[in-house]
Amino acid sequence: RLALSRNGPLAGKHVVVSAGGTQEPLDPVRYLTNRSSGKQGFALAQAALDLGARVSLVVGATAALLPTPTGAQRTDVETAAQMAEAVLELSREADVLIMAAAVADFRPRQVQAHKIKKSALPKIELEHTQDILLAVAEQRRRAGRPEVVVGFAAESERLLENAREKLERKGLSMVVANDISAPDAGFAVDTNRVFLLLPGGVVERLPLMTKGEVANEVLRRVVRLLGAG
Ligand code: CTP
Ligand code: CA
Repeated sequence: RLALSRNGPLAGKHVVVSAGGTQEPLDPVRYLTNRSSGKQGFALAQAALDLGARVSLVVGATAALLPTPTGAQRTDVETAAQMAEAVLELSREADVLIMAAAVADFRPRQVQAHKIKKSALPKIELEHTQDILLAVAEQRRRAGRPEVVVGFAAESERLLENAREKLERKGLSMVVANDISAPDAGFAVDTNRVFLLLPGGVVERLPLMTKGEVANEVLRRVVRLLGAG
């Protein structure tokens, strides 16, 4: 691994990876969250390290217990707002961003200072969180960095249509689309069944693979997109 790292195709490149789900507090003891083990994101960080990259890993609360891949620089966050801040800051100097995190789309509009009593049965009002990839796209238009931005699309229906729409709306270099209704893909399991979508209508279907294998395939294409191969 070390020998490869020094001369790997991503030597001298800075890759930022986000992983895991964020948690949005409601009161001191409750939160709204996304289901995400963080395993695919951590595998992506490892794959980037293996190719010689400098890797920053931004970790959402649901993946807090996963061990840090050796050599990655890790930042732990809780909320979508904290993840946005960390990812945007790191992305300013990065060559590649891979957003594998399951970012909460909504958060409670107000965080109660005290624990809500069960007798209260609250109506919980929600508001949108910031879309991190849209903010990155804006930053990228201004500053030209990161050169390559990869998003994920977790879909339970109309997989390719929805993923293509995300590729275009978020101005991505590539989308990794997975069908979360399949029992052998997505949450908690060690395998994933994904499609890779690129601009211009290009779609590649990968066979059922471990999350480590998916990560290696994704990074192989990142190398190609950077022209660093
Ligand atoms: N994402 C993001 N910021 C958010 C929500 C999502 O950057 N606030 C990123 C995810 O990390 C992922 C991509 O956007 O790389 C797609 O996430 P997904 O949840 O599939 O799509 P959304 O745009 O949130 O739309 P929806 O949940 O309605 O499908
Ligand atoms: Ca979402």
